[in-house]
Amino acid sequence: MRIIEATDYQDMSKIAADYIIEKVNQFPKIKLGLATGGTPMGIYSNLIADHQKNGTSYRGVMTFNLDEYVGLSGDNPNSYRYYMNHNLFNHIDIQMNNTFVPRGTIDDVLKECESYEELLTKHKGIDLQILGIGANGHIGFNEPGTSFQSQTHVVELAPSTRQANARFFNRLEEVPTQAITMGIATIMKSREILLLVSGEQKKDALKTLLTGNIDERFPASVLKNHPYVTIIADKAAIAGLKVHS
Ligand code: GLP
Repeated sequence: MRIIEATDYQDMSKIAADYIIEKVNQFPKIKLGLATGGTPMGIYSNLIADHQKNGTSYRGVMTFNLDEYVGLSGDNPNSYRYYMNHNLFNHIDIQMNNTFVPRGTIDDVLKECESYEELLTKHKGIDLQILGIGANGHIGFNEPGTSFQSQTHVVELAPSTRQANARFFNRLEEVPTQAITMGIATIMKSREILLLVSGEQKKDALKTLLTGNIDERFPASVLKNHPYVTIIADKAAIAGLKVHS
């Protein structure tokens, strides 16, 4: 894993966005894997600013999101479909029917998981996956203990994850208890991965990732088995760690 040290959140977001923009220009039909949460917000605003200023086009780009809450429809402001539309898709020239987010309100969620996996296979997988990390090492919504062999599946969210995400909702009780997420094996099939880590609250997770063993109790550790991972972390997350850029 290569690690790039950014000065702060803005710098991390800019470095990641510039990297993605370069790839989109080089490969106009690139398939991007996208993440939600607080971490990638800065990337998306940089992509929008660049699209407006430099005209980088997403007409041929396809996107696949990592996860979605079970029970929230796309017009619910806390759904990840809503997040993606409002924080990125509505502001660039991507074709909406080339953007995929698991559907959280479908009756048969298990079937939705299978269909999502089939969709990824049909489109020959993701070229570049953007990832954040949970304080407990989760990637997507793959909580500690998830099998490294897992494919897209339904998960029960850990209390700590619901607590961490409650900041986006009015009350903790409103945070769904389940989500659909790409599995760890699904994520690992991406040809390249960019992992973003920002802030003091992610410091321990980054340390465990860099110094710990590959272990299902810390989902992100699986990334050490991937041939092409770049971590972009800011100073607050790296603090005190010895890293080689
Ligand atoms: C969320 C998402 C993950 C995200 C992580 C970190 O629950 N499902 O995809 O990477 O937790 O979130 P944040 O970037 O807000 O810290």
